[in-house]
Amino acid sequence: MSIILSGIQPSGSLTLGNYLGAIKNFVKFQEDLKEGDELFVFIADLHAITVPQDPTKLRDNIKKLAALYLACGLDPSKSTLFIQSEVKEHAELAYILQSITYIGELERMTQYKDKKQKQVEGVSTALLTYPILMAADILLYNSDYVPVGVDQKQHLELARNLAERFNYRYSETFKVPESLIQKTGSKIMSLQNPEKKMSKSDDNEKASIYLTDNEATIRKKIASSVTDSDNSIIFDPVNKPGISNLLSIYASCKGISIEDAVNENQNINYGIFKTRVADEVCRLLIPIQERYNSILNDNEYLNKVLDEGRDKASFFARKMMAKVNRKVGVGRKNN
Ligand code: AMP
Ligand code: TRP
Repeated sequence: MSIILSGIQPSGSLTLGNYLGAIKNFVKFQEDLKEGDELFVFIADLHAITVPQDPTKLRDNIKKLAALYLACGLDPSKSTLFIQSEVKEHAELAYILQSITYIGELERMTQYKDKKQKQVEGVSTALLTYPILMAADILLYNSDYVPVGVDQKQHLELARNLAERFNYRYSETFKVPESLIQKTGSKIMSLQNPEKKMSKSDDNEKASIYLTDNEATIRKKIASSVTDSDNSIIFDPVNKPGISNLLSIYASCKGISIEDAVNENQNINYGIFKTRVADEVCRLLIPIQERYNSILNDNEYLNKVLDEGRDKASFFARKMMAKVNRKVGVGRKNN
């Protein structure tokens, strides 16, 4: 019996990086679930507000992410889809875990150090404590596996440390989770600066392919992506980051290895290669977009999925939270 859990922040339009590094794998795990296994996929809205958000846009992005999960193939009869803030125990457990987390551990986090630089209005406390909330998300469900992109590895390490620390201090309570990071596609780079991760918060729209970009836009962005000038198609992320990124995208969209992607694209120029990459991206995204548009208009269906997901997740979360409160000694006995 395995429990798999992951989440994405509704903090902007999702990119091809989110799909190849995260959602695609959720769907793969869903297809491999066995009797008794559980897959929890949630919308990390409490994580999104660690940096300023426009409330109207946030609500809209939550709904869009729910529709996108479904359009990408998550099936509510097999997986549990829910909104983080609707299961109150996430915030409750995060608070308890704060009591066993050292400030130094949080200040060391690479993502915190990066995001901190970008805050103009000052740095919120939640930006610092973000990895504790993420640990709570994971430990609340006794997760065995957490599929994420490479950028989340350090946060996963903290979740493991907190599980072990809590178990040591208060007796065996949490499972120690493992991250699942794919070989191909776990770090898709920006099309304009291939030394940098493709990110939904990039100010340059040309740097990212959004899952809802139309075909012409996808083709234009890939055609104008930054590459080197020596015209040989080899995988060498250090010396040829642009071409290597396009090879990763091609391989990951087709579900083949990098080696096969290189072999399939020998003796052609960059222009033709870019057209082939764009063909694969379009082949993947266009059917998702068709489903997305119809689901987004079906409020009744979306609400039903999210209500059922919330109820099921709450059932697991309540049980774990009662156990944690008992171990820590807060509240009353049998209450
Ligand atoms: P975020 O956009 O930070 O909410 O990330 C949601 C999920 O997508 C996480 O599992 C990330 O690791 C993954 N992810 C985000 N950007 C990329 C990228 N450029 N390449 C691969 N995975 C990514
Ligand atoms: N922090 C993750 C990200 O930005 C999203 C996330 C929140 C998450 N809670 C999680 C991922 C729990 C996996 C498990 O990508």
